[in-house]
Amino acid sequence: MKDQAYVLRRLVKNRDRGSKTRIIAITSGKGGVGKTNLSVNLGLALINLGQKVALLDADLGLANVDMLLGIFPEYTLTNVLKGEKNLNQILQTGPLGLQVMPGGSGVFELANLNQFTLERLIHSLENLDGQFDYVLIDTSPGLGSAVINFILAADQVLVVTTTEPTSITDAYGQIKTILQRNPDCNIHLIVNQASSPAQAQSVWERLNTVVQRFLRGNVQFGGYILADHRVKQAVSQQKPFIVAYPNSSASRCVNQIAKGIVDTQFEIAKDENESGLKGLFNRLFQLSTTKR
Ligand SMILES: Nc1ncnc2c1ncn2[C@@H]1O[C@H](COP(=O)(O)OP(=O)(O)OP(=O)(O)O)[C@@H](O)[C@H]1O
Ligand SMILES: [Mg+2]
Repeated sequence: MKDQAYVLRRLVKNRDRGSKTRIIAITSGKGGVGKTNLSVNLGLALINLGQKVALLDADLGLANVDMLLGIFPEYTLTNVLKGEKNLNQILQTGPLGLQVMPGGSGVFELANLNQFTLERLIHSLENLDGQFDYVLIDTSPGLGSAVINFILAADQVLVVTTTEPTSITDAYGQIKTILQRNPDCNIHLIVNQASSPAQAQSVWERLNTVVQRFLRGNVQFGGYILADHRVKQAVSQQKPFIVAYPNSSASRCVNQIAKGIVDTQFEIAKDENESGLKGLFNRLFQLSTTKR
């Protein structure tokens, strides 16, 4: 894939220095653990902290971001990949001004894009640079899809698990694959549907012990969301719980996670070449050259 490498190298070279846009991928080993709810509500919580946020729906499953928000997009990522639109043109305004890039349906195979499509997508991403403080990417579960490139290219990865053993085991599998591909990946664990803060903490401690021992890596504790019946109620109203039930325990937990992200962002961004969309291009470039 000399061509891909060439395109990426050129774009990396042309990037403006000091991009402040930070990319956070939200993923999980097992499906249905709360990624989309976290992505949407975290985006809104970051907006409430004064941040500019875009949300890219890279999940082609059924529980799409647009369904959760009750929006009916005319154009989606599929139109971007076909070259009919750029990312700016598919932006939909959600609650509190959240900018959503809907996923649509179709095969989102970044690894298999031809040079022309890749160049188009990257130029399109480039145009977003600097417009947002955070770009959140809601991914599909597991690493079977090409969305892995986005997971590995993000500044920060939030791995979501519930407290169920199957979900924790699958989170471990996910983390293992991510660390094998990038041992320096910045991974935070979010424990969803916890019955107490102590239970969430203990899930993280147990998982991190195994990660340290067998993978020689590390996973930070990104926070927890308590099990809260308001989440389901908000989903059936097609409203984010932060908007429908701002004082619910789930909302308070997500506000806490958002605060943690904003407070620690400068620790994560040690090197400007490694952060933001510039970092994303750098890492995509490394991926496309080391893979072959
Ligand atoms: N904190 C919570 N308390 C109670 N229920 C929750 C909580 N978080 C999520 N749920 C329930 O889990 C369901 C699935 O959530 P969501 O669609 O966000 O998961 P997902 O990981 O994005 O799923 P998929 O892998 O299919 O994309 C929600 O519709 C809701 O009913
Ligand atoms: Mg989802």
